[in-house]
Amino acid sequence: MTPKKLLQLSREKKSRIILAIDLDSQEKIEKILTNLIEIIPSVKIGLPTIISLGIDRLKEILRKYDKTYYLLADTKLADVAHVMRKIIRKLKEADFNGFISHTFVGRKGALEELIKEANKLELDTFLVVAMSHPGGDEFILPHLEEFVKIANDLDIAGVIAPATKPKIVKLTREILREDKLILSPGIGPQGGKPGDAIYNGADFEIIGRLITSSKKPLETSIEIAKIQMEKLASKRI
Ligand code: XMP
Repeated sequence: MTPKKLLQLSREKKSRIILAIDLDSQEKIEKILTNLIEIIPSVKIGLPTIISLGIDRLKEILRKYDKTYYLLADTKLADVAHVMRKIIRKLKEADFNGFISHTFVGRKGALEELIKEANKLELDTFLVVAMSHPGGDEFILPHLEEFVKIANDLDIAGVIAPATKPKIVKLTREILREDKLILSPGIGPQGGKPGDAIYNGADFEIIGRLITSSKKPLETSIEIAKIQMEKLASKRI
């Protein structure tokens, strides 16, 4: 499934930023979402927030923003099918548009059934094919090409590949089907630079603390979006 809403909002706002929210204060979340509405097309809500606020309270918050942001749940699922199906039905009730799952759980009894349910619910699936932290190289990275093949075979929206490892983003882009997106986390405190993942083939950059801990989140976001647009333009030359 193509995440049309994500692409449409990104075109309108001229930005490839997915804001990572891992905050546990409703007040802070609402303040930042209201403040960045003009420049950020999508918000990724992490487990620290989902667990702290609870899905019902989160639903009340997200209801105010579901037209203006593409809402991605960072659940990093890794379980058997019936449990994962139950989780994504809850995410749909809370107005999420998409979610993240691990790939290593495999197809049978896990991903195939999960993605069938996700598509029935009109929820976009993104699969983790590599991770941003150094330990991501221990067990996940050696299977990158197999994970991308799984992503190519399944009816999903895209994959997660690390902005901290631009060569991995480049390799992923070379082997991933063109119609699937790459979302890249790991910019700022984890070491990646804004625009580098985009330059190497990512479609969106997932950015948390660089914006949420900034004294001027709006100015920081505008500056990052500008760098992203410049990198995209330089790629096209
Ligand atoms: P910061 O504050 O470092 O937050 O910009 C990054 C966000 O991205 C998530 N994260 C990942 N998610 N694969 C993922 O699916 C990864 O390799 C990865 N690395 C970081 C993290 O949970 C946070 O919300």
